[in-house]
Amino acid sequence: MTTFLEQLETPVPVVDLDRMALNLDRMAAYATLHGLQLRPHVKTHKSPRIAAEQLRHGAVGLTCATLREAEVMSEVCDDILIAYPPVGAARLERLACLPDDVQVSVAADDANALPALSLAAKLGRREFRVFVEADMGMHRVGVASPEKAVALARAISDSSGLVFGGLLFYPGHIRQDVTQQTAPLAGLTTDLARYLDALRDAGLPAPVVSGGSTPAAWRMHEVPGVTQVRPGTYVYNDRTTAAIGACHWDDCALTVLATVVSVAVKGQAVVDAGTKALGREPIRADGDGFGALLDHPEVIVSRMSEEHGILDLSKSDWKPRLGDLVRIVPNHVCIVVHLFDEIIGVRGHAVETRWPVAARGRGPSTDSIESGPSRPRAV
Ligand SMILES: Cc1ncc(COP(=O)(O)O)c(C=O)c1O
Repeated sequence: MTTFLEQLETPVPVVDLDRMALNLDRMAAYATLHGLQLRPHVKTHKSPRIAAEQLRHGAVGLTCATLREAEVMSEVCDDILIAYPPVGAARLERLACLPDDVQVSVAADDANALPALSLAAKLGRREFRVFVEADMGMHRVGVASPEKAVALARAISDSSGLVFGGLLFYPGHIRQDVTQQTAPLAGLTTDLARYLDALRDAGLPAPVVSGGSTPAAWRMHEVPGVTQVRPGTYVYNDRTTAAIGACHWDDCALTVLATVVSVAVKGQAVVDAGTKALGREPIRADGDGFGALLDHPEVIVSRMSEEHGILDLSKSDWKPRLGDLVRIVPNHVCIVVHLFDEIIGVRGHAVETRWPVAARGRGPSTDSIESGPSRPRAV
């Protein structure tokens, strides 16, 4: 018997399966067209089922941030990059214990992290590929100069159990409208060339140059030297991504289905999605509020409590009634996914499938993963 959207208990995250399929297709086609490897970041969906779809669309491997993600994704992928500093005994132990037949890469920005990483490689009787992470302007992590990149690449090559994997950067500072990224991309091109030249001159050419995010994804081919992109958000997209033109409003595949629970206060309606369903992420583009309605984008979530979202009706002719269902496009979809155990997949108004957000949280993945496609094991 078919279940319809109208029968779901709210608030609940709902993915339009047709839109998601188009998002996956579009990014895969972009990467193929420009000869870029696609290594999607799984932090957006945290689901092996969606990861398997990305691999089916030609991804060369996956990017993870947490060890939980890496453990869960090793069920479907044998080539995993943990784009996060490999620091701390617990993290290293879990790295060492990833399945033997998974090629594990990490991103480092400090030679002081290498001795323990090398020990973890020994403990796990394996090799780690280590990328030198460079700061290209986001100022979060990453070595600050080509000289430091060369020194780190050399230290990696000199460490037992470690192999220099290439250069990695995250262009998180390039979040302008896609049409206004020309200047920052030119700066990135100049900076990246300095890093790549220095590595080449030192006899340590970068085998892989991994960059890319969703906001800058569509123009990464304009940066010579980049060989790989790691977008994450593109699978679902969100209000911020649409606001900067990195997707269309109709490409937003994940919405939070919510119910209007009060219209008592003039000029507003209240829905049952507050911070515990939407997060409190600001829009990282022009605009206010914490989300907007898919079918009435002029209506934003202007205020929230934990279980209440206040819809500002001042710019809309829409007259909500008690019990009406709305679909909210969140400002930052990755945070929303992380707040729920399960995602509902719909086609039109019909619920077609559901899947767990299996890589949520931090703990080791001891529980069995959802049944789904598994990668073939090496024998
Ligand atoms: C290191 C790294 N690579 C790739 C991504 C994916 O970026 P986006 O979600 O903008 O696609 C992120 C996002 O946080 C990241 O931190």
